[in-house]
Amino acid sequence: MQKKLIVGNWKMNKTPAEAAIFVRALQKNVGAANEVDLVLCPPFTALAAVYNITSGSNIILGAQNVYWEDSGAYTGEVSAAMLKEAGCKYVIIGHSERRKYFGETNETVNKKLRSALNVELIPILCIGEGLTERENGEAFRVVEDHLREGLNEISKEEMQGVVIAYEPVWAIGTGKVATTNEAKEIHLLIYELLDKIYGKNISSSTRVIYGGSVTPENISSLLDESEISGVLVGGASLKADSFSQIIVRSVK
Ligand code: PGA
Repeated sequence: MQKKLIVGNWKMNKTPAEAAIFVRALQKNVGAANEVDLVLCPPFTALAAVYNITSGSNIILGAQNVYWEDSGAYTGEVSAAMLKEAGCKYVIIGHSERRKYFGETNETVNKKLRSALNVELIPILCIGEGLTERENGEAFRVVEDHLREGLNEISKEEMQGVVIAYEPVWAIGTGKVATTNEAKEIHLLIYELLDKIYGKNISSSTRVIYGGSVTPENISSLLDESEISGVLVGGASLKADSFSQIIVRSVK
């Protein structure tokens, strides 16, 4: 069975010095956590500090965002090649906070995915419905739109290097985790859609992870479901203790 993928998304938290302290504590707690694939996504400014400590270890580096152009007059932006050279293997794309605060659309998300795949960075494509959409019975439609438009012109071969993160917006940072059944239902939908878009069998090799108020308390029941290939953790990834517990409890 494939290892579970555990991703810590620090968002706009931790200076390089704070990041270094965190990583040392994490390594002490779960230094030998080889049974999971463990990814840390610090802010851009802490990538180097985390890379210096973790390179060659079981902790993999990821970024939280990328711009789709290779280089040029795009003040404030960072390209996929830059992330790659900074030691990143993964990049989160289309997080709901980027869609909400920075105007990202399925179209820009798709361009970012393309630029990441061009340099063999693994994109973690975030998709998921908001509260009103769920209440109006539109969750399936929103997930389908995010998925189809986000993956526009991404080939079957390229799909091997894409991770999908189902993150219901109403569960992010709210303490309201989706029930295992709610998460499972959407994960099954995503696998079905992937098979429809790419033909059978693609879903068996694609990781679909869950994000939204994951904690040490709910990690085991989420990962008990074989459809949930891992988790994207925000708040609970900021403290070495809680993140270590999540990692330890992810290992069966
Ligand atoms: P949360 O965030 O774990 O704090 O809900 C998850 C995310 O935004 O990826």
